[in-house]
Amino acid sequence: MLSYHAKFSSFGSHAPKKILNNFDLEKIVDTTDEWIRTRTGMFERHIASESEAASDLAFQAATNCIESSNVKYKDIDQIIVATISGDHPFPSTACILQKKLGLKNIPAFDVSAGCTGFVYAIDIARQYVENGIAQNILVVGVEILTKITNWKDRNTCVLFGDGAGATIVSRAEASDISRIIDTKIDADGSQGEFLIQQAGGSRMPASHESVDKNLHTVFMEGNRIFKNAIKSMFASSDELLRRNNLSVSDVDWIIPHQANLRIIEGLAEKMKVSMSKVIVNIEKYGNTSSATIPLAADEAIRNKKIRRGDIILLTSFGAGLTWGSILARY
Ligand code: UT7
Repeated sequence: MLSYHAKFSSFGSHAPKKILNNFDLEKIVDTTDEWIRTRTGMFERHIASESEAASDLAFQAATNCIESSNVKYKDIDQIIVATISGDHPFPSTACILQKKLGLKNIPAFDVSAGCTGFVYAIDIARQYVENGIAQNILVVGVEILTKITNWKDRNTCVLFGDGAGATIVSRAEASDISRIIDTKIDADGSQGEFLIQQAGGSRMPASHESVDKNLHTVFMEGNRIFKNAIKSMFASSDELLRRNNLSVSDVDWIIPHQANLRIIEGLAEKMKVSMSKVIVNIEKYGNTSSATIPLAADEAIRNKKIRRGDIILLTSFGAGLTWGSILARY
């Protein structure tokens, strides 16, 4: 038995000012605007400046989120940051964000689940709120993958952008229509080597050789990941709908991870849902990993596409491999 229900109080987001479009990329690697558009659906992406780190983007998204909610700064009782490109290997970006927000004596920690990080963080936050331990948890998905990108590798460098998205997972009042209905997270560690940052950890500490060989950047076998993406997002979404006696026709909006428009369209087709119900902003941001879902949700709420009471289905996949979905009434 749950003690309470959890809900999304509000969303906020932030992307760095600098924009790199496909024509800019044509000057960096052997690629074309046409290839990138037709193979991925991307046109431009935001790129952090030299002086910006993950916590800077997270801070902007968090303040946008808090200020568009009824939650006061002092009422936030936990911070969870989903990231694989934090300011430092340690301390956590969540602790750095806590300091920036001036919030003292509350738990703060990072979650590493690749592009599924935000979904994992919501799954965790929800448990704390539902069992009564916390009332308002700030959850941020933030990435600066362009600082761990190999700008000589056309297979990966055209794909990523930087950004942050935030939400507050709050205790729902009995009278609230908003609530997180259910969440489902999953992983298959046996496929970890297909999407990996090989150096910089205890397996391969930083050395001149690791830097020379670009081993601190994202390595990805894109088509291996592609094959799993639709299957895994469909599996977790389908399970959530079935175990809550809902069908896709009950869902108002699907917000999928923005990694590739072809993956998004493939998922919509497998779910038998019209693309008019799917939130897509990949052409403007590229793949911002754990930030894609909260960024897209925030935009869709601010554009008045998603309204209070709508049923939303969020779904993602990424390094690990990991995948998962969230079903909620916004
Ligand atoms: O967020 C979670 C993690 N990431 C992902 O979800 C990414 C999932 N994967 C994908 O989105 C796709 O696999 C990619 C967009 C990465 C690649 O698309 P693809 O249709 O799977 O292409 P491919 O890797 O099979 O490559 C096809 C061709 C190759 O040339 P050849 O061998 O056929 O001559 C590549 O070398 O496209 C070439 N290619 C490019 N050509 C121009 C790869 N990247 C580029 C590029 N510009 N940027």
